[in-house]
Amino acid sequence: MMYIALQLFTYLVGSFIFYWIVKWIQYRQQLKAFTGPVSFPLIGSCYNKGFLSFYKHMFQLRMRYGQIFTFFSFHKPLLVICHPKIVKRILSDSKTFYKGDDYTVYFARAFGKGLVTSNGEDHRKGRSIFGKYFIRSSVSKMTEKFNQITIHAISTILTPIVNDTTKSSTVINIEEFFAVLALRNFMYFCCHTDISTNPKLESRLCHTVAKASYAMVRVLLLKEPDLPNLFPNSHQVKMFNDLMDETFNLCVDERQRRDQAEEPIDDALTVLINDDSLTAQDRIDHFKTMISAGHDTTAFFMSYMAYLLARNPHIQQKLYDYLDEKLEGGIQRPNLSISADVFAELKYLHFVMMETLRMYAIIPVVTRECAEDVHIKEAEVEVTIPKNITVLMPMIVMNKDPELWENPNEFNPSRFEHKQSADFTSAKDGFFPFAYGSRTCIGNVLAQIESAIAFIHILRQFVIEEDKGFRPNILAGISLTTSNGINIRLRKRDLFGK
Ligand code: HEM
Repeated sequence: MMYIALQLFTYLVGSFIFYWIVKWIQYRQQLKAFTGPVSFPLIGSCYNKGFLSFYKHMFQLRMRYGQIFTFFSFHKPLLVICHPKIVKRILSDSKTFYKGDDYTVYFARAFGKGLVTSNGEDHRKGRSIFGKYFIRSSVSKMTEKFNQITIHAISTILTPIVNDTTKSSTVINIEEFFAVLALRNFMYFCCHTDISTNPKLESRLCHTVAKASYAMVRVLLLKEPDLPNLFPNSHQVKMFNDLMDETFNLCVDERQRRDQAEEPIDDALTVLINDDSLTAQDRIDHFKTMISAGHDTTAFFMSYMAYLLARNPHIQQKLYDYLDEKLEGGIQRPNLSISADVFAELKYLHFVMMETLRMYAIIPVVTRECAEDVHIKEAEVEVTIPKNITVLMPMIVMNKDPELWENPNEFNPSRFEHKQSADFTSAKDGFFPFAYGSRTCIGNVLAQIESAIAFIHILRQFVIEEDKGFRPNILAGISLTTSNGINIRLRKRDLFGK
């Protein structure tokens, strides 16, 4: 009996290895036109310990093999494309370059089947349902509230820390503050819910969303089965799902209890409740997608911007002086409130934000699956992308590419002054912070405006200073998370000496 079991086991393992060797030979054949690091069956190109720092490793490979190369992530072949024009073409054609099982199977475990994880008709329908809430004119209507939420959060969270003379150090993990602020803005924007009235839930949400982003990438890389009792990453994702159910039901209850006599609300929650074409599962999935895609991305972005301003005091001072000059009545004007129109005029603030997104690509990579053999010819480069191959586009590498950016490691917002038609979504010069095409980030205007409001109110009151010696330890999550937070110091602004 034992002997038969052993034979069966050997046979199964042998078949498995044989299958992957054949597959590997096929993939190598398909990708023979491309260069890249040596690969082996099953372990692919992941034999080098540099692989553990995935983004750094990708950058080194880009420098060695050029802007297009292959990389075998264990058994999975990837065509890594860092060429801006080719990336733009790929992102423009969501029919040929659709989202593969990275998104539709693995990320869908946390995001649900919402906008981020769907393709084709499902995606088009989701976009047409929610699009109108995210356009500039809709976001503009919310700016007054974003100002109030921000001022309240600063005065109740940051000011007491800065004023606390009993503490010897005022180092602040600013990631925690921005997680709260982004959540409050998001919950008000999408559901008209004041989440600050439920501090326990608020705190659980802030911690769980960021952790789920990191856990999701582990689930994907390790191809973890959906067994939360056995696997810690899947457990983390399940906790996130349970919390999302609880939060969504709470928002729906609150909306349904609303007095009929009150002014009607029209926001994303309204459509989630009222659209008859959505199933109960669709509703919760769309909610999960929005919060997963919109919360920690914005919080991390603001945190890195604070960190960069802390490390570059001359740029912070230039930004402060610029805002003081451009804002009617100056930055210290009483009852300062920033509207979308005011933000649109603050070009240097745009440049600081864009430069932050260049230095820290909040969504470090995006991938697409190729539906058919596609030949792309763009000026000086020609490439044929084979059918069924996964294309990996590492924005994090492109943003530091010395062929695209002068002194790429220098934080220099003014570099955007010299770029033609530079903005967040034009994809000029290979800059794709919110991706491009029909799948451009739906929340990009929201993220820009709420962040601008946050920084103007913070800079008005505080000077952001460096916590000397602190460096964020970046982890490869879906978004650019850290293991040690993002520390800075805040000093109350001396209005006479500035
Ligand atoms: C600084 C903050 C943000 C950054 C850097 C960012 C970046 C991105 C990027 C690069 C994509 C494309 C992903 C891909 O194609 O694989 C994306 C998609 C998306 N983002 Fe954002 N995002 C931010 C904030 C937000 C906010 C605030 C929301 C909503 C509340 C949001 C909702 C979405 C959704 C729903 C998608 C999928 C769009 C589609 O496929 O049609 N994001 N985001």
